[in-house]
Amino acid sequence: MTDLFSYAGKKVVLTGGTTGVGAAAVEMIADLGCTDLTVLDIKEPTGPATRYIPTDMSDPASIDAAVGEIGDGVDVLFNNAGVAGVHAVDFVIRVNYLGVRRLTDGLVAGMPRGAAIVNTASIAGQGWPENLGKILELIGLDDWDASLQWLVDNDELASADMYGFSKQIAQVWTMFSSKRSYADHGVRTNSVCPGPIDTPLMDDFIKHMTEQVIQWTVDQTGGRMLTADDIARSLVMMGTDASVAMNGHNLVADNGFSAWMTTGQVDFSGLA
Ligand SMILES: NC(=O)c1ccc[n+]([C@@H]2O[C@H](COP(=O)([O-])OP(=O)(O)OC[C@H]3O[C@@H](n4cnc5c(N)ncnc54)[C@H](O)[C@@H]3O)[C@@H](O)[C@H]2O)c1
Repeated sequence: MTDLFSYAGKKVVLTGGTTGVGAAAVEMIADLGCTDLTVLDIKEPTGPATRYIPTDMSDPASIDAAVGEIGDGVDVLFNNAGVAGVHAVDFVIRVNYLGVRRLTDGLVAGMPRGAAIVNTASIAGQGWPENLGKILELIGLDDWDASLQWLVDNDELASADMYGFSKQIAQVWTMFSSKRSYADHGVRTNSVCPGPIDTPLMDDFIKHMTEQVIQWTVDQTGGRMLTADDIARSLVMMGTDASVAMNGHNLVADNGFSAWMTTGQVDFSGLA
């Protein structure tokens, strides 16, 4: 049987590959044989990426320029760059949703059949069912500026927990876009939804979620916070043919926290 997890001969693009989960994924993908690995980031990576294209995922012109440089034939696209809710609402939504969408839309038509897109979402976005109608309304706009105006007009949705809302959109976008990418181009789209991970972004999460809430979440699943390497494994797996039957799936990677929450097995006393 062929090696299901090999990245040999694959053209891979990954956003946010300089620190945290993305940097761990870059190491892993290179170890798995990839020799054509492009990182898009605002900071230059030091890892084994073969090409770096300075790209600001909050800026449509920067993304369009990167799309032009990358060209066709991307086998696996990882939309991993993300920011926490310590910035302005529009910035968080630009990086965590609009930039993801623009890069994907720019590359998907040139991706070969059987290619894969993997978005890094979050369990912070698990509340999407409550807002599904509104999020589909936003997705239906299909325009950068109109989407930003929609956010202003629907301020109450994003302002309470803008990071969580951005990741709700990421999960719904993963499901929504999986239809047309697959039907039109034969490209699968999935996401990975991690729980708290020990990365440089954690400092920002502590600022807007508090240390108590983060620690409580980690304590529920045994007290060991996920590592960048743990989540890179899930991302890398979703980019391979091992996940060939999966499309439009939001893969929860949180040591069980969401499952226990859903089945009423979480102890809230630590939050009092
Ligand atoms: N750390 C966590 O607890 C956690 C939990 C769930 C999901 N996530 C998600 O995981 C992904 C990776 O985050 P991380 O925890 O590894 O954090 P990180 O800060 O270590 O990595 C983020 C990467 O994105 C890059 N980046 C930031 N803004 C950018 C921009 N405007 N344009 C291009 N690149 C930009 C950074 O330079 C960095 O390389 C994010 O999408 C994040 O939302 C993180």
